[in-house]
Amino acid sequence: MAKVLIAGGAGFIGSHTCLVLLEAGHQLVVFDNFSTGSPESLRRVQELTGTAGSDRLRVVEGDIRRPLDLSKAFATGWGRFDAVIHFAGLKAVAQSVHEPLLYWDVNVGGSQHLLAAMAEHGCHTLVFSSSATVYGLPERIPIPETAAVLPINPYGHTKAAVERMLADLAASDGRQAPEGGEPRSGGWRIARLRYFNPVGAHSSGRIGEDPQGPPDNLFPYVSQVALGRRPRLQVFGGDWPTPDGTGIRDYIHVMDLAEGHLATLEALWNEPPQLLTLNLGSGRGYSVLEVVRAFERASDRMVPFDLVARRAGDAAHSVADSSEALRRLGWWARRDLSQMCADGWAWQQRHPQGYRSAG
Ligand code: WQD
Repeated sequence: MAKVLIAGGAGFIGSHTCLVLLEAGHQLVVFDNFSTGSPESLRRVQELTGTAGSDRLRVVEGDIRRPLDLSKAFATGWGRFDAVIHFAGLKAVAQSVHEPLLYWDVNVGGSQHLLAAMAEHGCHTLVFSSSATVYGLPERIPIPETAAVLPINPYGHTKAAVERMLADLAASDGRQAPEGGEPRSGGWRIARLRYFNPVGAHSSGRIGEDPQGPPDNLFPYVSQVALGRRPRLQVFGGDWPTPDGTGIRDYIHVMDLAEGHLATLEALWNEPPQLLTLNLGSGRGYSVLEVVRAFERASDRMVPFDLVARRAGDAAHSVADSSEALRRLGWWARRDLSQMCADGWAWQQRHPQGYRSAG
């Protein structure tokens, strides 16, 4: 049993990863400010894993921008954490364009405080939630990890900046002694996981994606149209250089993504200090219209849509080359688009208003 700190563990990917780690027998502290995640998601995770009332999951409310809050997360009395998974950040591209300083403060400043707290408390193993957004407009498909990091929006710039910070940290000797303290042994074990398009929900329908306000992303929007909560989907561009003219993306089931985090931790724990950078995608692209049709089949509902102008900053095609994750972790995405739609719909149907619904 390992002790893992999950920063941002009450969010969509964080809560599903907590479930997988608890099922693997680990002990978790979730550190979250609940600005976008919900405490209810963690109660559901405990219910689903039979750990409610046990001491397997503790929750510390706080903000990664406040060192005093972070020190609370490291002062649980469990001793040193065996790893940190860092999900805590803002992820809306459009919002980042309007509020770049907020994104730099939370995503980069917050990461800096978290890393300093890790070093201070002798934890040098980190899994970082990065994003395919760091690639910007890809030159070739599928996209390998060696592709140029050329983000085109503030959100992507902040993810690339934290990736750079982690590379510098991994290159340091990892034995930096705190002021006047004893040098610590061992270097940094760091993984930068570049997610493609995480969608779907745990098959129980009890935890899932709970966007605040009108969803920016395709999947939750389609889901809310199928539910009747929104009248129509706007398809951003029908004139892309793709077979049906609509954008193609690499959708990955959130449970595959969560399992990828467990596999990453096991690799970091069993290998020497390293900086590991991996694409976590399915390696399979689907167009917007293919997603709409798949969701209609899974939900037995209509998803009316209008073809409208392209969205600024979009690329025609983005699909992962995730062969490195298979080679290094023995991990690959197992669940297909119909499973993503079925599980996403099961969550949405039971939770028309997300965690604010009875469910
Ligand atoms: C998918 C496709 C749109 C909405 C973003 C972030 C990325 C990651 C995942 C955090 C595109 C089309 C969408 C709609 C549409 N998030 N679309 N109508 O843009 O690939 O990636 O979310 O890490 O960082 O950039 O995902 O779901 O917004 O778009 O037609 O209402 O659906 O044009 O082709 P994207 P998305």
